[in-house]
Amino acid sequence: MKIKLLMMSMIILSMGLTACGNGNKQQNDAQTTPAQADPQKVYQNFCISCHGNQLQGGEGPNIQKVGERLTEDEIIKRIQKGGGGMPPFQVALKEEELKVLAAWLAGLK
Ligand code: HEC
Repeated sequence: MKIKLLMMSMIILSMGLTACGNGNKQQNDAQTTPAQADPQKVYQNFCISCHGNQLQGGEGPNIQKVGERLTEDEIIKRIQKGGGGMPPFQVALKEEELKVLAAWLAGLK
């Protein structure tokens, strides 16, 4: 009787573990697509070294009012392709990060 009980609880336990495992996997999947990237964080990580902590420029040009000159699409292309001394970020940035970053910059007027 005792052994049967033990086996039952082991079965239940292992079922519980597999269910848990699936739950974790789903959680991990959800984490790879964050709700919203923070454009200023992305900027700090990838752009600040050349465009400055106030977007005032340095090695790269001042982009404080880049939204007056370039549309969101143009900014996306600029970041993806680089050029003229700016490296391309197509690979380094997630699509989500690229989008929010470009939208933020395009709004600076
Ligand atoms: C290694 C230095 C460097 C880094 C890092 C860098 N840039 Fe640049 N960026 C430049 C240079 C230099 C130019 C000017 C290129 C030219 O004259 O065509 C430029 C140009 C630009 C322009 C066009 C400005 C205009 O008025 O036409 C935008 C927008 C821009 N960068 C955004 C970014 C963003 C966003 C990041 C981060 C993802 C970034 N840059 C990272 C050096 C850099």
